[in-house]
Amino acid sequence: MKRVRVFSACLLALSLAACSSGTNRKDAIETKVEALLEQMTLQEKIGQMNQVNPNGNLEEMIAIVKEGKVGSFLNVIDADVVNKVQKAAVKESRLGIPVLMSRDVIHGYKTIFPIPLGQAATFNPQMVEDGARVAAIEASADGIRWTFAPMIDVSRDARWGRMAESCGEDPYLNAVMGVAMVKGFQGDSLNDPTSLAACAKHFVGYGASEAGKDYNSTFIPERQLRNVYLPPFEAVARAGCATFMTSFNDNDGVPSTGNRFILKDVLRHEWGYDGMVVTDWASASEMVPHGFCADRKEAAEKAVNAGVDMEMVSATFIENLEALVKEGKVSETAIDEAVRNILRLKFRLGLFDNPYIQTDASVKYAPKHLAKAQEAAEQSVILLKNHQDILPLTDKIRTIAVVGPMANAPHDQLGTWCFDGEKAHTQTPLKALREQYGDKVRILYEPGVAYSRDKRTDGIARAVTAARNADVVIAFVGEEAILSGEAHSLADLNLKGAQPELLSALAATGRPLVTVFMAGRPLTIARQVEESDAVLYAFHPGTMGGPALANILFGKVVPCGKTPVTFPRMTGQCPIYYAHHHTGRAPSGKETLIDEIELEAGQSSLGCSSYYLDAGFGPLFPFGYGLSYTTFAYDDLKLSATELNPNEKLTASVKLTNTGKRAGTEVVQLYVRDKVGSVTRPVKELKGFQRITLQPGETQTVTFELPIRDLAFWNIDMKKVVEPGDFTLWIGTNSDEGLSTDFKVKK
Ligand code: GLC
Repeated sequence: MKRVRVFSACLLALSLAACSSGTNRKDAIETKVEALLEQMTLQEKIGQMNQVNPNGNLEEMIAIVKEGKVGSFLNVIDADVVNKVQKAAVKESRLGIPVLMSRDVIHGYKTIFPIPLGQAATFNPQMVEDGARVAAIEASADGIRWTFAPMIDVSRDARWGRMAESCGEDPYLNAVMGVAMVKGFQGDSLNDPTSLAACAKHFVGYGASEAGKDYNSTFIPERQLRNVYLPPFEAVARAGCATFMTSFNDNDGVPSTGNRFILKDVLRHEWGYDGMVVTDWASASEMVPHGFCADRKEAAEKAVNAGVDMEMVSATFIENLEALVKEGKVSETAIDEAVRNILRLKFRLGLFDNPYIQTDASVKYAPKHLAKAQEAAEQSVILLKNHQDILPLTDKIRTIAVVGPMANAPHDQLGTWCFDGEKAHTQTPLKALREQYGDKVRILYEPGVAYSRDKRTDGIARAVTAARNADVVIAFVGEEAILSGEAHSLADLNLKGAQPELLSALAATGRPLVTVFMAGRPLTIARQVEESDAVLYAFHPGTMGGPALANILFGKVVPCGKTPVTFPRMTGQCPIYYAHHHTGRAPSGKETLIDEIELEAGQSSLGCSSYYLDAGFGPLFPFGYGLSYTTFAYDDLKLSATELNPNEKLTASVKLTNTGKRAGTEVVQLYVRDKVGSVTRPVKELKGFQRITLQPGETQTVTFELPIRDLAFWNIDMKKVVEPGDFTLWIGTNSDEGLSTDFKVKK
């Protein structure tokens, strides 16, 4: 152990020297990293690159820690175990390097917030940051210091179950929300004991899995990668996201875990990233079944040489890297670079100074955390339809029929990737309605269908009877949590089980029908929207979804959510998204639909345009769509100039008026189109949004500052430039409606 004392003295001297010379903390950490790295054997370096998912055997965990064979554990959430493992690492391993404890804390730890897709629907980055901060405070109390979030995969195919974990279809929205989550998880400083190292995942292009089938290949050309899929990751890298995770998909034949173009050329050399890169779960060893590596040894070689620092659970590094270095297939320089990134993270987190935790159970489900989760849920709910202003419910309502499998589903309401939130804490809509309004209205509860996949129809009659005895029917339908998330793709987005039959039977009663959806993705709900008088979409709203929905139903809260993804009419339209390219055959609006085609129609191309005979062209609801209990008018769109050069800033403004009878919040959206480019460009791209709250009759001028540099894109020469030419700008209430005007960018 003598060497350890010498090392510690050196470290102290170097640190004092660094601090006394006034170099900033960053330099002090680099000094410590180098000093420690110099002490490490090759085996100890490789040990740091190994992340283990323990089987719960504490002795085994302590043994490999003492031998310096593990750099991080997944899924250790017992504070006592964390402290015992850290004690072994710090006191009984040769160099005393603490272990990094990690967990998927995706949308809350104990207090569960809406799923990320629901949080994106708030279009409120501050709300999203606050939610991540709550998650970090709760998770770090159990010793977790690294979370595998934010997931910022641009997701445009609702068949892909992992859309639930994303911030939707738009690169700008994913970037804004991803940065907010990083700030929330990491807090003001990574070495704050309540901070979690964030992890930008899944790098990159995973959301484009062919046919929306999870783990499938992607075929994204470099230009599309750079214009659509990379921007959110660049944004969080520049915002200081501490780690990145490689994605499962092979893109254009190269698995991300072995892709040096994205891991070195882009991430390190173009973006100057100095964080740590971890593989996804066994994605290193999976390069063998991918057919990219002949065996596990080659998988370790290709992953490390491509730029991976740490391997999640598949153990090819710990098994093979020593031999690969001896054979000259992996340089020790590459190993050193990986270990620097790992040690730097551990120093930044303050783990060497504070490896132990004093758990504080009081932070879990703290009232202020639950209040924040409720506020997030309230802002995540989207009002899709409100025929004759049936909502909010008035005090004329004396009896409510509460029906549907999601009315009282405490587990499923929490959504996918909920490891630690407990259903006992879930406030369901039924519970909230009974507690908050049970003294004012009579509540008849009949689920009608027991769970979302339940095909049995024998309960529908009782639900219909309840409906007939009520002034209004509130049907809570959608998806169980397990039907979205990882490995849960769907080939058919219609409501499952007997839910469609339940809703049709309720509609047939003629009683006013309010349908509330809880789901991990947009479902194809055209029939249910038609049958309902009002529709609310809550995704999976988390622990406090019940009170949130009760407040919205009775008007204590005015809905303000907006769709973070396009809602398809039919599954066959997927992938469907607003920022599509125009094509040479855009629909004229006079397309012939399938039922309009005459019998024995002569051979013709009908509309000769890009649409579906059986679904038309457009979505059910566009991106950015959401109604309110009030109405808003947009007037007087103005630009500061109509001709600008690339280094100028355009100011655009509109007058927004609340023309209704209630206060409300509108998400004002700014879109731009580059009408002609050296390559074809999207018909619209979101470039800004603002949440504006107005009293009835109030008018506010809403102003956007748009640097022309923000219109840059990767062009025909694979250069990121602003090309001169004609542009159109919209400011409006969603991606399909708004005031528009044109401007030019000069050379
Ligand atoms: C999973 C997911 C990834 C998650 C990791 C650890 O397979 O792809 O998002 O963070 O493994 O659980």
